[in-house]
Amino acid sequence: MTADPLEIYLEERDLARALREDVRTGLTAQPKWLPPKWFYDARGSELFEEITRLPEYYPTRTERAILAEHATEVARTTGAKTLIELGSGSSEKTRLLLDAFTRHGGLGTFVPLDVSISALRQSTAEIAEAYPGLRVRGLVGDFTHQLDRLPTGGSRLVAFLGGTIGNLLPAERAEFLRSMRDALESDDWLLLGVDLVKDPAVLVPAYDDAAGVTAEFNRNVLSVINRELGADFDPAAFEHVALWDPEHEWIEMRLRARRPSRVRVLDLDVDFAEGEEMRTEVSAKFRPEGVTAELDSAGFLVRRCWTDERHLFAVVLAQVV
Ligand code: SAH
Ligand code: AVI
Repeated sequence: MTADPLEIYLEERDLARALREDVRTGLTAQPKWLPPKWFYDARGSELFEEITRLPEYYPTRTERAILAEHATEVARTTGAKTLIELGSGSSEKTRLLLDAFTRHGGLGTFVPLDVSISALRQSTAEIAEAYPGLRVRGLVGDFTHQLDRLPTGGSRLVAFLGGTIGNLLPAERAEFLRSMRDALESDDWLLLGVDLVKDPAVLVPAYDDAAGVTAEFNRNVLSVINRELGADFDPAAFEHVALWDPEHEWIEMRLRARRPSRVRVLDLDVDFAEGEEMRTEVSAKFRPEGVTAELDSAGFLVRRCWTDERHLFAVVLAQVV
């Protein structure tokens, strides 16, 4: 079967407007910052996939192993008819869920949502081909603003995998979980992948790999701004930084100016001092009791929490109450 045509809730012009606003806000702030969703143009999505295969980047393979072990239970427990996936990217691990639903459930529709049209085009075509009985509806949208666009009715399972929830700041995360709760109905389900707090000796290399792929991913945001807004960043003039912030329990990625520079973007002249750092991403790490408390205050009840032997990553199955 072929996938339905992509449903576009974020047109090029909406994306361009949002990028302009974020760049103006972030580059005139002190310290400067940029939101991580702008990493994911076609090149950024490819680089992320490359990251998932790096020896240092444990989250993807660990979450995949947890899903492989428990996907059948997810299918049996939820009995979902519609599987929605937020920030779906390649949906590669999601196939474990689709396989389990194929064996044990009556799943009829798969609805991946992503801001990256290139990732979604490819994943919807591949999934539709691999699962001929499944309706595949790809949504181009922003999960921080557009959860009201999710399909309603039926019994729904929303998967939010990969630890992407950790890329939201705490206030954004609380707002996101409340909107998620509002978009769902009693008895709908949420399957959430979260990366766990651990030794920084494991965490930091995962965000600063020896091959330099994460560094290229980080600098890619500057190429996106150059292309979309006609800016003149020199990506090579910025060094990749990944550090563990023990107070917030998150990894922070930054770009550090190697030398003083002035960048022209929009109607702004943005000055960078030598060594100045701009935050490009936070990747929060969680403790199981913290996740349970956050889900609880948003109106979800945790039914299962699975982890791996080394307690690197957790997958939480929660139900709307
Ligand atoms: N879920 C996949 C991909 C994670 S990468 C996995 O576990 O491997 C993060 C994905 O979220 C990317 O595909 C990116 O395009 C998407 N994304 C980031 N911010 C987003 C937003 N605000 N709205 C929708 N998608 C977003
Ligand atoms: C998508 N997200 C969960 C990744 C993470 O680990 O925070 C993005 C990433 N950033 C650097 N490497 C991977």
